[in-house]
Order: sequence, then structure tokens, then C-alpha cells
Amino acid sequence: MKFPGCYNNNNNKQRVLGLALVLTTCTQAIDLDVNDAASIKATTRTIAQTLTSYYTSPDNENRDIPGLLPDKYYWYEAGALFNSLITYWHYTSDTQYNTLTRLALRHQSGDKENFMPLNQTNTIANDDQAYWAHAAMTAAETRFPTHDDDNNNDDDSDPSWLDLARAAFDTQTARWDNTTCDGGLRWQIYTFGAGYNYKNSASNGAFFALAARLARYAGANDETYARWADAAWEWSTRVGLVVEEDEEGDGNGNGNGTYVYDGASAVEDCGSVNRLQWTAYAGWYVLGAAYMYNRTNHPTWRTRLQSLTTGLSIFYPDNDTNPNEPNEPTNQILTEPACEPQNTCTTDQKSYKASLAHTLGTTLQLAPFLESALLPRMRASAVAAARTCVRGEEEEEEEEARECGFVWTASSGNETYGVGEQMGALNAVQSLLALGSAGPGVGGEGDGEGDGEGGDNNNDNNNDGGDNNNDAPSCIHPIISAMGI
Ligand SMILES: *[C@@H]1O[C@H](CO)[C@@H](O)[C@H](O)[C@H]1NC(C)=O
Ligand SMILES: *[C@@H]1O[C@H](CO)[C@@H](O)[C@H](O)[C@H]1NC(C)=O
Ligand SMILES: *[C@@H]1O[C@H](CO)[C@@H](O)[C@H](O)[C@H]1NC(C)=O
Ligand SMILES: *[C@@H]1O[C@H](CO)[C@@H](O)[C@H](O)[C@H]1NC(C)=O
Ligand SMILES: *[C@@H]1O[C@H](CO)[C@@H](O)[C@H](O)[C@H]1NC(C)=O
Ligand SMILES: *[C@@H]1O[C@H](CO)[C@@H](O)[C@H](O)[C@H]1NC(C)=O
Repeated sequence: MKFPGCYNNNNNKQRVLGLALVLTTCTQAIDLDVNDAASIKATTRTIAQTLTSYYTSPDNENRDIPGLLPDKYYWYEAGALFNSLITYWHYTSDTQYNTLTRLALRHQSGDKENFMPLNQTNTIANDDQAYWAHAAMTAAETRFPTHDDDNNNDDDSDPSWLDLARAAFDTQTARWDNTTCDGGLRWQIYTFGAGYNYKNSASNGAFFALAARLARYAGANDETYARWADAAWEWSTRVGLVVEEDEEGDGNGNGNGTYVYDGASAVEDCGSVNRLQWTAYAGWYVLGAAYMYNRTNHPTWRTRLQSLTTGLSIFYPDNDTNPNEPNEPTNQILTEPACEPQNTCTTDQKSYKASLAHTLGTTLQLAPFLESALLPRMRASAVAAARTCVRGEEEEEEEEARECGFVWTASSGNETYGVGEQMGALNAVQSLLALGSAGPGVGGEGDGEGDGEGGDNNNDNNNDGGDNNNDAPSCIHPIISAMGI
């Protein structure tokens, strides 16, 4: 554990006192030890504290409305934030953000309880709605408490997390559009939205992944969601948004693997595909394939998932060597190649790595056979991301003290800070706890449909730590950064 005294207990008051004593230590770069579950948890807590301060800060002009970040962040990004915080609770057992998370999900589910709040009509697209639906799905799978334990005001009329996810999903199946490209979802929902005439991998991938999650949750008695997942996969590959660029053609990772491309114009019947690649969009297909693989245990899904995982290599470039760590292996640190090297990432694009990093933790749980492919990169990326968490001044409050940057490879000298950057670091680090936590739950008794039970009833592998990571076959050695600031 690298922060003696920082987070030595769960009592808020004492914790703040503890911090005050070690403030100097805490304002240096975070030195994450990936072989130490306590170090991972402490780092995760620190990063989460700063992340939530963007939401609770007086600078958030929307602070009185549960679930909204400051205006510079589109609505989906708050959905991604709360999804990350539910997973944070699941991996660490720290309940301190549960109430704000629950209120946000409830409020933003809107009048129709399907994540179509009227206030967002001007900008909401299928992928935006899906981010919130995925947060609700994470809540269902982890048995995120439906009510505040301290304040037992159960309202049985509240829909379950699963109900919210399903209701959002149902609005999306109704938008499946055969009039162009022989199927698929448009990016935007409304004709006035820029992007209505675009069918992209963000919307279709998020839909595919949601279908796959609902399919696994529903189990063998309900094939409806699985059929939609199959249809979304089939359509995405047919129009060329998802392409197996595996030269060997055997799906075994001998070639480039499967790539996920940005989208195609509906006006041109998806005749030509925009081949930009983004971490988050690839992540949706990885996630969906992982759920389908886990649900079916079928070699077809295993091969697809394996090939998608191989395709992720383009996000881990060869030239990631950190000048401060010349012995660090290359090809290990997550980047956003379509904009990061050029310094052109938008606020949205700065959130994408968070999405993929979140996905990788769940994928590891659902597809343990990928451990040797995923874990070394996850560990190296977590260390590199934690190393960017250097911003903060000694006199500042704890919450401001640990801002993390966007560029995890060699320092850009042009660092930015914000929700996407912070969420990326959070997910990079907390996903290392995935193997020590219960995998996603499925439907049945105690599945959060109004029972208010926290915790989970899915007992496999829940030893509350990251410590069964130790037997990773090809784990990189802990990287100890000496980078002081
Ligand atoms: C919509 O906007 C109104 C006015 O600002 C606000 O009171 C309400 O909480 C908002 N609803 C949602 C779901 O954000
Ligand atoms: C769209 O086309 C598929 C076949 O490609 C068909 O199964 C489906 O029913 C169609 N959906 C609608 C809404 O027409
Ligand atoms: C596959 O990888 C090779 C070697 O890195 C590269 O030259 C080629 O462009 C890649 N193929 C595609 C379709 O990107
Ligand atoms: C890797 O290095 C090459 C050559 O300097 C550069 O063009 C490319 O943008 C770099 N990629 C990343 C992700 O930094
Ligand atoms: C920082 O980013 C800006 C664009 O946002 C670019 O013009 C400038 O060259 C970058 N500086 C460095 C040191 O990369
Ligand atoms: C499915 O996921 C669970 C974790 O939820 C895991 O224990 C199990 O091994 C996975 N099944 C397969 C076939 O990998």
C-alpha cells in the first residue's frame, strides 16, 4: 500500500484527518503497485474522489438537477460517470457515492422511465441513451441497492434497474431502421439531429452490447434479446462497420484482428464506411461479444471475441515508451490514436478510453481465457494512468488534489484535466479489481427487482480483493515509477 495513512479506514472524519497528515505524499504522482490489492483500492478511491468532485462542485451550474454534469459535458457522459461509480462500489465496497448515483439514475430516467428525458431532446442520440441504459444494466447485474439503506423510504412503485434498461432497449428496437442500409440504428433519434443520416458503431455497438447483456441476464428462457444481439452483430459486419481484418482469416489473432469502424452514411445506403477507429466503439463490440460468449459458451462467439481483442492492438501503439521508464515494455498503454497524438481530442473523445477501460474489466470476468491477452496491458495502462494523477496543490482540499491527465504515454507537455480524463484513469485502475470481484449477475431471486438488497448473490470468485491476479501467466512486473513532481 503506497499511501500509508491516506485511506486507512472508512470513517470519513478520521479519513480526512489522516489525509491532512500525509498531504505532501499525496500530492506526488500516484505510484500504483498492481500486485497489491490495497494499493489498487487506495488509488481507485483517490481518483474517484476527484472524479465526483466535478459533479458535486459549486462550479457545476446544474448541481440542483440530479444526474447532470456542467454544461460543457454532454448528457451521455454523466451516464458513463454513474456507470463507472456503480462498478466502483461493486469492486471496492465503498458506498459513499451510492446515494447520489441512485438519485441521478432515477431522475434522468425521465417521465417515461426509459432514459429519454425531455430536457435532452435537442441532443440525445441512440448512443447517449444507451450509456444510461448500460449504467442501469450494471446496477441490475451488481444488485446495486434500489433504496437508501439509511433512510428506508421504499417506494415499490419505483421500477427496477432492469426495468429501466429494458424500457430504453425497447425504444431502440422500435428505431431499428430497414429503410436504408437494410437495417441498423441511426446515430441520432430525431430527424433534426446532425447525424440522423449516419449509422454508426457507437449507436449500433452500444445497442448490440445492451442486447447481449439483457440476453445473458434473461437466460435460456428468453431468446428475444439474443436474437437482437445476433441481428445487430450480423448487420454491423454485413455493412462493414465491424470487419475481420485478420489476414490469416482464422480468427486466432494471427492477423490484425477485428476492427470497428466509425460509421457510414445512410443516404448512400452505407456504401462507404468512415474508417476512423475509436476505443469506446470497439469497446461496445468487445463487451457484447463477451456477454454472448459467456451466455452461449459457443466457439463462434469465442472466436469473434478473441479477434476483436486482437484488433484492440491498434490502441496500444509501439511507441509508447515513457522516457522516465526506459525499461517499460512498449505496446502496453491505452491511447486514442485518432486524435491523441495530434492533440485534437474533443471533450467527448477524452471520455472514450474510460469506456473501453471499463469494458475490459467486465470482459476479463466474463471471458477468463483472455486474461493473458488483456491483463498485462490493463496493468501497464493503470500504472501509466495513475502516474498522470499529479495535479493538485498542497493547500487544496483532498478532492482537488488528484487530477489525472489524458495522455498516459510519454507526457505531452500539453495535459488537460476533466471528467473524461479522470474517468479514464478511474476505470484503468479499478478494472484491475475485476478478477477479485463477482462477475455480472443474472436474473433470478434477489436480482434487484425492487427487493432493495445490496451486494450480490453471485458467489463465484468474490474474495473482495484483486489478489487472485497473482497467478497471471505472463504478468509484467510491477512498474515502480520514480517520477516525483
Ligand atoms: C429538466 O429541466 C428542469 C428545469 O431546469 C429541471 O427542473 C428538471 O429537473 C430537469 N429534468 C431532468 C430529468 O433533468
Ligand atoms: C427489418 O428487416 C429484417 C430482415 O432483414 C426483418 O427481420 C425485420 O422484421 C425488419 N424489421 C422491420 C421493422 O421491418
Ligand atoms: C494490418 O496490419 C498491418 C501491419 O501492421 C498494416 O500494415 C495493415 O494496414 C493492417 N490492415 C488494416 C486493414 O488496417
Ligand atoms: C507514434 O509515433 C509516430 C512517429 O513519431 C507518430 O506519427 C504517431 O502519431 C505516434 N503515435 C502515438 C499514438 O503517439
Ligand atoms: C498543444 O496543443 C495545441 C492544440 O490544442 C497545439 O497547437 C500545440 O502545438 C500543442 N503543444 C505541444 C507541446 O504539443
Ligand atoms: C462466465 O462468467 C463467469 C463470471 O461471471 C465466469 O466465472 C465464467 O467462467 C464465465 N464462463 C466462461 C465460459 O468463460
